[in-house]
Amino acid sequence: MALTGALWLHGPGTYEWVAEQIRRGIPAYRSMSGLAMPMRGWSMMNDDEVRAVAAYVWSITHPPRVPGPGPATVLSDGGPPLPCGRGRL
Ligand code: HEM
Repeated sequence: MALTGALWLHGPGTYEWVAEQIRRGIPAYRSMSGLAMPMRGWSMMNDDEVRAVAAYVWSITHPPRVPGPGPATVLSDGGPPLPCGRGRL
């Protein structure tokens, strides 16, 4: 299933969760297809690169919302941390 699909097969799809799937991979016994996902997708990514990939995956699965009237809505699903250190996307 494409990562941009409407459904997460294995968990909530939050930024922290996506990062954890990339770090740990998915064992075959937990996979829907019976295929395992290798840790870090078999790459030599370091932790910063894992976080960058997770932020990208999170961003393509959370399209920007159109600002509406009323107080700003706060995302509750743990988007990537902002580079300035002031909270999350
Ligand atoms: C860095 C690149 C990759 C990222 C960001 C990534 C991310 C993910 C995520 C977030 C899931 C969970 C999807 C869900 O719950 O719906 C997943 C599942 C999976 N990934 Fe990856 N992955 C990567 C690389 C790879 C590679 C290289 C392989 C194969 C060699 C692979 C094989 C799989 C498999 C087999 C599953 C489980 C699918 C199922 O349950 O049927 N992934 N991946």
